[in-house]
Amino acid sequence: MDNQRPIGIFDSGFGGLTVARAVIDLLPEEDVVYFGDTARYPYGPQPLQQVREYAEEITDFLVAEHNVKMVIIACNTAAAAALGSLGDTLEIPVVGVIEPGAQAVVEVSTQKRIGVIGTVGTISSGAYQKTIQAIADPSTKVTCIPCPGFVEFVERGESSGEQIQILAQRLLDPIVKADVDALLLGCTHYPYLARAIGSVVGEDVVLVSSADETAFAVSKILKERNLESPQRKTGNRTFISSGDVSWFAELGQRLFGPELESAESHEWSTGS
Ligand code: DGL
Repeated sequence: MDNQRPIGIFDSGFGGLTVARAVIDLLPEEDVVYFGDTARYPYGPQPLQQVREYAEEITDFLVAEHNVKMVIIACNTAAAAALGSLGDTLEIPVVGVIEPGAQAVVEVSTQKRIGVIGTVGTISSGAYQKTIQAIADPSTKVTCIPCPGFVEFVERGESSGEQIQILAQRLLDPIVKADVDALLLGCTHYPYLARAIGSVVGEDVVLVSSADETAFAVSKILKERNLESPQRKTGNRTFISSGDVSWFAELGQRLFGPELESAESHEWSTGS
């Protein structure tokens, strides 16, 4: 039965766990397989073509080894690079984090001054700019800026402190100057830094994370395609890392919870 198969979720590392959390909270009965490509992270500074190849390889693995019924690209950089190609070639539904996030930020911005922050790869791809401009009122002003350095703090398990605050003040200066009323956290890691980001941009600015919106989009697609899990018990969760699995389990437990303790390893063969 198609609907009994798991949902596949992937990210370059830990950030996609924010999306996994939202999906599991909204759809607790679904089986989920999460893949963190920590052997090849970070994706943000890498060429989009390279990231597209990684995304295709992970998707092939999730389909071949776990027979997933849907793929969630829980990484903004990978979604910017590969959503189009994967959506065109796969027979199962593919959901990225960009469109749900863009939709949500347009909805909450009353002043039509929107900010978007993300990795260098995501911002330079223009994916958010394009998606927001396609759905927002033409008078909407969109300020998009890359925030190199944020991801590295999260991947080290740091989400607060003086250094983060100083970096946030420097990077977010154009967002503050643009006087935005809504700021989209266009990188899966940034919700972990929401406190620092919020303290710089001010409490009047609504912070939007793609994670919850993506979970709603996933729920809608499962319903429309008759793919909702028929089981009434809590779903099985599998967490896989392509890098150092003990580190993945340790930091993952801090960011996500105890389920990460039993994370599994998948090593890419040499040359991939
Ligand atoms: N997950 C990536 C994203 O959302 C950030 C981490 C990375 O650069 O790999 O863009």
